Amino acid sequence: MADRVFVTADDLEHAVRINAQLELAGFDTAMITSFDDVREAVRLREPDCLVITGALHEPATARLLATARDHAVSTLGLVEATEPDPKGLAASIGLTAYLEKPVDGAEVARQVRRLVDRRKLQQRTGIIGESPAIQEVLVKLEQMAPVTSTVLIEGESGTGKELVAHGIHNLSPRRDQPFIAVNCAALPETLLESELFGHEKGSFTGAAERRLGRFELADGGTIFLDEIGEMSPATQVKLLRVLEERAFFRVGGTQPIKVDVRVVAATNRPIKEAVAMGDFRDDLYYRLNVLTIYLPPLRERRSDIPLLVRRFIAEFATRHDRKFHGITPDALEILVNADWPGNVRQLANLIESMVVLAPEGEIRASDIPRDIREGGRGLPVRVVGATRDVAGKELEFIFRSLIEVKLQVEELRRRLDDRPAPHRVEVIEVDSHGGPLTAEETGGTDEESVLYRPGMSMADVERAAIEAVLRQTRGNRRKAAEVLGIGERTLYRKLKQYAMA
Ligand SMILES: Nc1ncnc2c1ncn2[C@@H]1O[C@H](COP(=O)(O)OP(=O)(O)OP(=O)(O)O)[C@@H](O)[C@H]1O
Ligand SMILES: [Mg+2]
Repeated sequence: MADRVFVTADDLEHAVRINAQLELAGFDTAMITSFDDVREAVRLREPDCLVITGALHEPATARLLATARDHAVSTLGLVEATEPDPKGLAASIGLTAYLEKPVDGAEVARQVRRLVDRRKLQQRTGIIGESPAIQEVLVKLEQMAPVTSTVLIEGESGTGKELVAHGIHNLSPRRDQPFIAVNCAALPETLLESELFGHEKGSFTGAAERRLGRFELADGGTIFLDEIGEMSPATQVKLLRVLEERAFFRVGGTQPIKVDVRVVAATNRPIKEAVAMGDFRDDLYYRLNVLTIYLPPLRERRSDIPLLVRRFIAEFATRHDRKFHGITPDALEILVNADWPGNVRQLANLIESMVVLAPEGEIRASDIPRDIREGGRGLPVRVVGATRDVAGKELEFIFRSLIEVKLQVEELRRRLDDRPAPHRVEVIEVDSHGGPLTAEETGGTDEESVLYRPGMSMADVERAAIEAVLRQTRGNRRKAAEVLGIGERTLYRKLKQYAMA
């Protein structure tokens, strides 16, 4: 299917020429005159690219660009030759790319092709970002994916190393083969060796069976060695041998095992530093360092933050089934200026929690936790090295648990609201002597009520409720079960349990 491009007709002369050239270049193209029609078309038909030929200062254009952004449609704007600051204009209105007029159709077609290809690459890899740093990562990814050379990915925690490793595998000819990830920091030395290379039966206490290692399991595919900087010297030697000879021994084994595995490694701390400290073998470093990708921290590519925020809001709103309008400009500004020591992971977690917790269906400045709002710092504690990673994961766990709890409470509330209440079961306040307050005192009614007294267990309350309902249904158990919202069999079980049958 041809890639779809829409061209606005503000500058008719340019638009006609560009439209013809795009068609010639094989695009499925359409020229659209009214802005409202374009917005509608962007919403409903999600083109791969939108070319805006003029009226870049108009508010209608700003609205159109916002719609395009929400639908992840790339935009190419044609800037007037008289425009004093084309780059500034493009950045302020949020164009993906721009060209200065006069332009020829062929140049526009080339640019559109580039934008469309990049958009597809981002869709396939899930890597969001318009900053030069991320664009460079994408270019490298495309170049590195088809070959088998080892790739080393460096970057702080949460910058997207695993995402990029997946991207390399998914764009490579090995995409249908396994992708196996191993965290080298998570296991002690001996376990890591057996995890990576497998072991023979009886090779150590507890090795009751032969076990295949991750290198064998990844045969034909990719192995992702995460936190490789934490690997012990002895394991480093073994890994070096695999990289040099593409063969290894299982722990306790005598037969060399040959595998065809592509190695992608990642590290939070610069390995060069570890080499200088004598913690990492320099010969292994050179073997790993054939192709490298560096992911800069989020605070060094703040221009990506608005895009990430919008995409995360949309993603989490769908996942948690929320109606969510977005984020106010001042809230967004706070997020853009925050420090983000936990990088994209921290940003994503925060957005998820706010999408679940923000009361107004919109993220406002007041919804943002105070430490981010005031200090520009993301996490209350800054920890260095491996410990920070652990702290990050613990915090993530706490975040997740909070979100879980909130969602469960809401679900419960919804269920209670949905349930018809044919019979009132209420907790009646009790005075200090254990006697119920009068109906007047509690504002209650004289409808049949179930009484709670201090010291009553859940079973007592349940028993009282069943008794009350049975009285109301004149002993009809089927009806009673219905009223109580439980199955008839459950009611029988309970009657038996409470010796009421
Ligand atoms: N550019 C990006 N676009 C979209 N999502 C991203 C981007 N970068 C990171 N993420 C998301 O942020 C989270 C963290 O990314 P990832 O696990 O790849 O980081 P990492 O560098 O491996 O972190 P760590 O060193 O702590 O293991 C993931 O949910 C990932 O999908
Ligand atoms: Mg990771």
